[in-house]
Amino acid sequence: MRSFLFVPADSDKKLDKGLASGADALLIDLEDSVAPALKSQARERAAAFLRAHVATAQRPRLIVRVNSLTSSLIDADLDAVVGARPDAIVLPKAEGAASVVHADAKLAAREAIAGLPDGHIKIIAIATETAAALFLAGTFRDSSPRLTGLTWGAEDLSVELGAEANRDANDGFLDPYRLARTLCLTGASAAQVQAIDTVYVDFRNDAGLRRECEAARRDGFTGKMAIHPAQVAIINDVFTPSAEAIARAQAIVAAFAQQPDAGAIGIGGVMYDRPHLARAQQLLSRVTRRRS
Ligand code: COA
Ligand code: MG
Repeated sequence: MRSFLFVPADSDKKLDKGLASGADALLIDLEDSVAPALKSQARERAAAFLRAHVATAQRPRLIVRVNSLTSSLIDADLDAVVGARPDAIVLPKAEGAASVVHADAKLAAREAIAGLPDGHIKIIAIATETAAALFLAGTFRDSSPRLTGLTWGAEDLSVELGAEANRDANDGFLDPYRLARTLCLTGASAAQVQAIDTVYVDFRNDAGLRRECEAARRDGFTGKMAIHPAQVAIINDVFTPSAEAIARAQAIVAAFAQQPDAGAIGIGGVMYDRPHLARAQQLLSRVTRRRS
């Protein structure tokens, strides 16, 4: 999945707009974009929206961002939405594997009550929203088969650190957030799950968004979260492998298939070895999955 659009769950209009946005996934938000007084109403709307659309054939993945494990709201969130069969939850303020194991247990109990298969609902963890989480970003491996992705956040982290800003005057992330981004990327890779880049909040700045998407793709992220429907097309465009990238990957796979005993080969004057083959195969499997 390339684009993950946040939609506040207390807005029916935005939920409907989200469906038509072209996003690969909707992140139906019960957390930061919903005021405390509206949480229970938002839960009901999220569940009703899921029930209305979960059986539709051509639809984005429907993912609910619940409140954090320490919020005292997550149990009511899960009680409201699990029976409506979301594809996944986003777990904010996760602190390493222990948080995923904890959320897994909460989901398993409710799946059993709702008659859903164990493990039906996947987990995407936001891995860098607290200072403690940064030190645990490498622990997600084997935490739960539900874990399918890691993403990162700069907003809550900057509040926790007492920072005045998280970006510099040129729109680039400052050091603490560059560290968080890198820990998300490497933590996801170590756990063999998707690395998803954080939101770009300046939602009228298309050029800035595109630049940030390209930098994320360059470094190994394969998708990005959005906060506004206008961001979806740019994210989809940048994270869809280009015809040129697909052709290059196919050439690498074909060359190794022709020389199965070769450790390294040359194509067009460039050396390719086994890690390049693995990367080419990863890219092609992403393309195949999208077409299926
Ligand atoms: N999902 C679905 N629809 C959205 C949307 C979103 N995330 N953001 C905006 N829209 C809709 C608006 O409702 C508006 O609809 P309309 O034309 O029928 O009135 C249209 O898109 C254009 O919106 P625009 O006027 O450009 O922005 P806005 O001022 O209405 O909204 C935000 C700005 C930031 C409040 C809004 O984009 C938003 O709620 N984003 C998500 C916030 C969030 O979930 N944060 C948590 C994660 S960090
Ligand atoms: Mg937050």
